[in-house]
This record gives sequence, structure tokens and C-alpha cells, in this order.
Amino acid sequence: MIKFDIITIFPEILSSYLGESLIARARAKKLIKITTHNLRDFADDARGTVDDRPYGGGLGMVIKIEPVYKAVQSLKSKFKNQNAKLRKVILFTPRGEKFTQKMAHKLSKLDQIIFICGRYEGVDQRVAEKIADMEVSIGDYDLMGGELPAMVVIEAISRLVPGVLGKEALLKERITKSGGFIEYAQYTRPEEIKVKSTLRRDSGQESWRVPKVLLSGDHKKIEEWKGLHGKVIE
Ligand code: ADE
Repeated sequence: MIKFDIITIFPEILSSYLGESLIARARAKKLIKITTHNLRDFADDARGTVDDRPYGGGLGMVIKIEPVYKAVQSLKSKFKNQNAKLRKVILFTPRGEKFTQKMAHKLSKLDQIIFICGRYEGVDQRVAEKIADMEVSIGDYDLMGGELPAMVVIEAISRLVPGVLGKEALLKERITKSGGFIEYAQYTRPEEIKVKSTLRRDSGQESWRVPKVLLSGDHKKIEEWKGLHGKVIE
């Protein structure tokens, strides 16, 4: 069982996603556990203030360190008698290490992952330096916060947890030695679909067919074809 704790000021963004489909089933089967925590519950004042103006000036607000510190401490202490090596605190930021399938594999071996979702103009830098074990980015673009990255990372990790996906044998077949995977081109019925031509002005027809080799039943040839039409993702 792997436990995901998500610290956010918008727990509602995550709730519908986490309550649907394979993620919901994995939670019900107790293969994964996911809890969202509202950062405002760890604020000092009754209004739940979690942000303040940046030192040195500048536009926008910055998430304060104290509520983040309190939230992380409380989540660490709630998950007792565990090996600290099997826990990581991750801060989402576009500056972080790029999230990959390999990283998903490494993280899937942990017991507990605490995610800190930033918002506004950023998070006090001391969170990255003193509280988080890792800074992670899901890609070179700027999002409005860490909630979507948390969902991306949770989904990529969860599907690696044994039992979460139905066809595990299939999954293993696709995993490369280095922890990446091969994404093959896939086809299903019908063998052929006829459509109006997009190339000609008249009412000519085109036929879109499944590659013949896949229908041949020749497994050696099929494997060769897959090798040529797959992409290794690491
Ligand atoms: N926060 C804002 N943009 C992000 C990104 N690309 N990855 C992770 N966290 C983010």
C-alpha cells in the first residue's frame, strides 16, 4: 500500500478525479491511499491566511512557510513506525526535476509521498530548501498550481502498483530494463474503414486499413513490426 498525501488550498480540484475509474477502484481495494489536506487548516489565524507579499517587492503573493511546515510535520507524525527512507516530500514547481516514467518507477517503491502544491506566484524558497526532499516539474510550461501535476504523478505511479491494472502481464511485457516502457501502435476492428476522400474534391473514397502483418498470425513478423512501430518512453 502506498499512501499519497496532498497539501493544497484547492482540495476540491482533486476530489472528482480521485473518486473515479481505476483510481477509485484502487483506493477501494486498498492498493493505494490518497488523502487531501487543506493548507488553510494549518494557518495561524482564523481566516486561514496562507500567503503573504514577497520580500524585495514584486507582483502577486507567496505561500508562507509556516503552514506548509506544520502540515508536513503533522502528516509525517501521523504515519508512524515507518522507514523515513521510504517517504518523500515533493514540491511541485516548474523549476523541478522533470517527471519521467523512470521517476514514476522509483517513486512507486515508496510507502508515503507527501505532495506540496504551490499556487499564486510561488512558495517561500525555504520550503524547497528545508522541507521538500525533491522539486518536481511535469514539463516545461507554467501551470497555475501543483494540483494537476499531483494528479499526473499519482496516476503514473498508481498504475505501476501491482493489482491496480487488470492485465499485469501485459504491463510487464512493455516495461524496459531501465524502467521505461514501450508504447506500441494498436489497432482494433474493423479491418478496413471507407471514408470520403479528404484529398480529392469529387466523391472519391479512401480506405483506411489495419497493417496486413497484424492480421497474418505470424508472431515473429508481428513482433518485428511492433519493434519498428513502438516508441520507448523513459
Ligand atoms: N507548477 C506550475 N507549473 C508546474 C509544472 N509545469 N510542473 C510542476 N509544478 C508546476
